[in-house]
Amino acid sequence: MPKRVYIETQGCQMNVYDSGKMLEILEGSLGYLPAEKPEDAGLLVLNTCSVREKAFDKALSRLGRWRLLKRERPTLRIAVGGCVASQEGAELLARAPFIDVVFGPQTLQRLPALLNAREATGRAQVDVRFPAIEKFDSLPEPKVTGPAAFVSIMEGCSKYCSFCIVPYTRGEEVNRPFADVIAEVYTLAEKGVREITFLGQNVNAWRAPHRGRMLDLAELIRYAASIEGIERIRFTTSHPIEFGERLIEVFAEVPKLAGHLHLPIQSGSDRILARMKRGYTTLEYRSKVRRLRAARPGLSLTTDLIVGFPGETDADFESTIDLVREVGFDQSFLFTYSPRPGTPAANFPDPVPDSVKSERLARLKALIDAKALELSRAAVGSTLSVLVERVTDPDGGMLSGRTETNHWMHFRGPAHLWGRMVPVVVTEGLANSLRGHLAEPAKDFSEHERARTQVA
Ligand code: SAM
Ligand code: F3S
Repeated sequence: MPKRVYIETQGCQMNVYDSGKMLEILEGSLGYLPAEKPEDAGLLVLNTCSVREKAFDKALSRLGRWRLLKRERPTLRIAVGGCVASQEGAELLARAPFIDVVFGPQTLQRLPALLNAREATGRAQVDVRFPAIEKFDSLPEPKVTGPAAFVSIMEGCSKYCSFCIVPYTRGEEVNRPFADVIAEVYTLAEKGVREITFLGQNVNAWRAPHRGRMLDLAELIRYAASIEGIERIRFTTSHPIEFGERLIEVFAEVPKLAGHLHLPIQSGSDRILARMKRGYTTLEYRSKVRRLRAARPGLSLTTDLIVGFPGETDADFESTIDLVREVGFDQSFLFTYSPRPGTPAANFPDPVPDSVKSERLARLKALIDAKALELSRAAVGSTLSVLVERVTDPDGGMLSGRTETNHWMHFRGPAHLWGRMVPVVVTEGLANSLRGHLAEPAKDFSEHERARTQVA
């Protein structure tokens, strides 16, 4: 019987990426195969998030359930990684003594060694340090699971927004070397990947030396765009303060860069932005948006917004509403402020009552959703490039893929189009997705092309 591991991922895309790497590492060094459910696994890994209180509670509640499984099966091993593990370290063992291994986002490469040490010593193991460059160095060769892939280019965050726990749990910004990033993009392209997303907490802070010069994200995108096979490039997440002219120019000059940008604003009030320590004003944000849209007409913008930050008045909130209306975001992630122990804002005065937070959240959500629907409907009749990522119903011929603006499109077509970029005419615009039909007959694609697109 092969050893099986069940990995549960909570939180952001960084965690999704890390979980993929954990699986590859466990497969590569200890021969684990993935399990469909916890009951089938000998090892359970929880990749946690602590960015908001709810996420933290979710981690503890999942562990509570796994404890019962371990009671029935004492040989079961439980490892906890991610930001809760990083924040709590050995204290997590005091709260949940049934855990076998506690590791952080920067020590996931040590998971096999930690599990082996657990068996050898009979004692729980904890390693939540930040040797970030080691993590990049010991990542296995990228494994391709579809035509779109993430490429991690930096770790951590050094911005220290007053509300955010990330710099404390993931450590400060560490850049991955240029040669390693480009080598990974080449490998992915050779294996059939068509779309890459450069990933990190603040990817526009990425800098790396190359041939005596310091490269930035704008140059990295240009290099990646020159690699044969790569048809679409994205990056996430970026911060408005390091979003310079050079990066804006890439939107005008590199057609392979997707016409979508996630640029978190957090609030539309300058007073709140200053208290959040975001380092920009709404005027600066508006000006960047204006220049970006001039560089790439039709650019789709999404954002993150926090409501109910300490001291947020009705007037501050109205400024957020005004800004959201004016910019016309195409979907956004909305959060109610959640105090995180250890961050400066957790001690700020004037907390906003929960009922006010909920009212504000509902108003903002209605505005954002209405705009998303409006933009979706406006797309009806247009032809969009879709990278086919899923064959949802091989018999009925249902395919799904993302458009350049990061919307899911569902349409009928033959399964062999999987992995291809195809033109699709939009027939229906829904709040969170689009429906359409292929713009050209599938028979146009030759056998040779079909074989070429079989992703390894
Ligand atoms: N650069 C990061 C990103 O978006 O990937 C931002 C980090 S955080 C994981 C994502 C979002 O969570 C932030 O942009 C912010 O809107 C939200 N967030 C972070 N701390 C929060 C808190 N204490 N309460 C509510 N929302 C929070
Ligand atoms: Fe958090 Fe601000 Fe960094 S939101 S991840 S401290 S840019």
